Order: sequence, then C-alpha cells, then structure tokens
Amino acid sequence: MNYIGSKHRLSAFLKKEIKAAVGGSLGDKVFCDMFAGTGVVGRIFKQHVKKVISNDLEHYSYVLNKNYIQNSAKLSDKESYIKELNELPLREGFIYSHYCMGSGSGRQYFSDDNGKKIDAIRTKIEEFKSTKEINNDMYYFLLASLIESADRVANTASMYAAFLKTLKKPAQRKLILEPAEFQESHNRHDVYQEDGNSLINKIQGDILYLDPPYNHRQYGANYHILNTIALYDDFAPKGKTGMRVYNRSVYCKKNRVRKSFEELIKNADFKYIFLSYNNEGIMSKDEVKYIMSKYGKYDLKVKAYKKFKTDKKSIKQKSDLTYEYLHILQKD
Ligand SMILES: C[S@@+](CC[C@H](N)C(=O)[O-])C[C@H]1O[C@@H](n2cnc3c(N)ncnc32)[C@H](O)[C@@H]1O
Repeated sequence: MNYIGSKHRLSAFLKKEIKAAVGGSLGDKVFCDMFAGTGVVGRIFKQHVKKVISNDLEHYSYVLNKNYIQNSAKLSDKESYIKELNELPLREGFIYSHYCMGSGSGRQYFSDDNGKKIDAIRTKIEEFKSTKEINNDMYYFLLASLIESADRVANTASMYAAFLKTLKKPAQRKLILEPAEFQESHNRHDVYQEDGNSLINKIQGDILYLDPPYNHRQYGANYHILNTIALYDDFAPKGKTGMRVYNRSVYCKKNRVRKSFEELIKNADFKYIFLSYNNEGIMSKDEVKYIMSKYGKYDLKVKAYKKFKTDKKSIKQKSDLTYEYLHILQKD
C-alpha cells in the first residue's frame, strides 16, 4: 500500500540497525510495533522473534495486522474463497451508494462496478462469518485481501482526503481480489487496536519500535474509506469527501506530542526503544534526544531517502531528499 510514512523502503535499514543495537539472537525477544500501520515492520521480525505485538489506532490497520501478524497457521481453502468472492454478482450497497458517481452521490472514489464489487465481496465476507462458515483467521485474511485490492483501484492521488474528478487509469481497471498472503509461524503473535499511550501500561517486552505520525495529518481522515470498508457500518457520510467520524491522534498535535511521547518512553517496560522520525517532524531531533536521554543510553542513526510524494514526477528533485532518523534508547 502507498501509505503515508510507510517503512517499506526502509525495512532493510531498520532490520540491520535494530539487530545491531540489540546484538545476538532475537529468537527469545518480544518485539512491539506500537504504531503499526500496514504492519510492514512487524512482518520483518515475525519469523525472527519469539513474539510480535502489533498495535494501531485505526481499524483498517487492525485488520491488516490481524492477518499479516497474528495469522500464523496455514489456511486451507483460501484459494477457493478468493475465487468464489471474485465471481460474485455485483451489488449496490454502502460503497456504491455513497462513494461512486453512478449512484448520484457526487463522489467518485471508485468506478461504479468496482464500488459494487466491493459491496458484494464485503457483504459475503460478513455472511461467511455470521453463519460460522469461516473462522476469525479466514475472516481477517479475506478482509485484508479486500482492503488492499480496493486500495489498488481507488480513484485518489493516494490518500482518501479527496477523490479525482476523472477516473485515473488504475481506477478504471476491474477490481480483482488478490490474496493478502501472510508468513506462517510457530509462535503466537498479538494484535491490538488501542491508543499506544494506554497499551504501553498493559504490555512488556524487549524491543519497542515506535513510528508515530510526525506531522498534523490524521490517518483516520486520510484513510477513512479503508475504515469504512473494514467496519462496513451504517452512518451518514459528511461533506464532499463523505467523511466519517475519525480518531484524532495526539501525535499529530504540536502542543501535545512532547508530553505524550515522554509518557510513552517513561512507562515503557522494554529494554530497547527505537523511534523512527524524520527531519520534518513536529518534534525536532534535539527535542527527541533530550527526552529519550533522560531514560538511559541514547544513540542516533540517520538515513537519507526520497520522500513520499503524490506527484511522482517531482520525486527526482533534489529538495525531495529527506532524512529519516532512528533514535535508539537502551533503557536504564
Ligand atoms: C507513520 S505511520 C506508521 C507506518 C508503519 N510503520 C508502516 O510502515 O506502515 C503512523 C501510524 O500511527 C497510527 N497512530 C496514530 N496515533 C496513534 C496512537 N495514539 N496510538 C496508536 N497508533 C497511532 C496511525 O494510525 C498510523 O498508522
């Protein structure tokens, strides 16, 4: 997924630096990905640590992580469910009614047929679950597959804070449900959907990885349609974009982030804490260093990389180079 702040392209850097800082084998370690988003960081460590604890405030992220992190045992029959869902007749449901042009909604997040296909698949997945035809593992696998497949044909510049006036090429393609394949594992992994500052008081482990939002952009607003597909509840979409009520993270608020961040560090029962943040974040490099250094031995690694941009042409500009910081704390 094209996700704001995704660590997909930084995964090799993170793996290398985290392994080096912790030293030795990770096989007996509990790793927590507290702001998990797409779950890409937890996925790097899933087969190397004893347990991954994955958490995020948003429901679509919970679904992705229930599949990619918590699902561990092979799912038999998954291909036949994917095939059955792909062959369903189209259905005019909530997504078509509120987020496609043909329904008269005035919104164009998906082509009419793709909106109807999302409705057909989403309704059937819920029916499978309520009739107990599938278990929770299969439920989250199918739902994660739908969220990612729908995202691939969304008619947006990349986020859902606005839709495009005309259907862009990928949005004209027919939605095909692709399987969201997860890694099998012999260990148990846990997934939560909580405010990180509250969850930190209930868990303990060895390695805490923090990747909070670093600017004012609220994820619940920018990915509201993914929450709507994940929840598939009934509500009155608001305004031009058809927004739902969304979570507001303190990590996006300039006047509250420092206090919350310090509380998180203070309350963490983890030996090693890693924070990904970049040079354009609300907190400066020195502010983060000041806070973390109060609680143990501090170190910093830096990597320059090309910034997430909606306009691909401008990626080539030199000014788009940004610096990703990995702040490291070994707690006293
Ligand atoms: C920079 S993104 C994480 C990206 C992720 N590492 C990835 O590679 O996909 C920040 C995430 O923090 C989540 N978030 C924001 N505030 C939160 C909070 N208070 N507690 C837990 N998660 C939060 C957002 O929903 C978002 O998914």
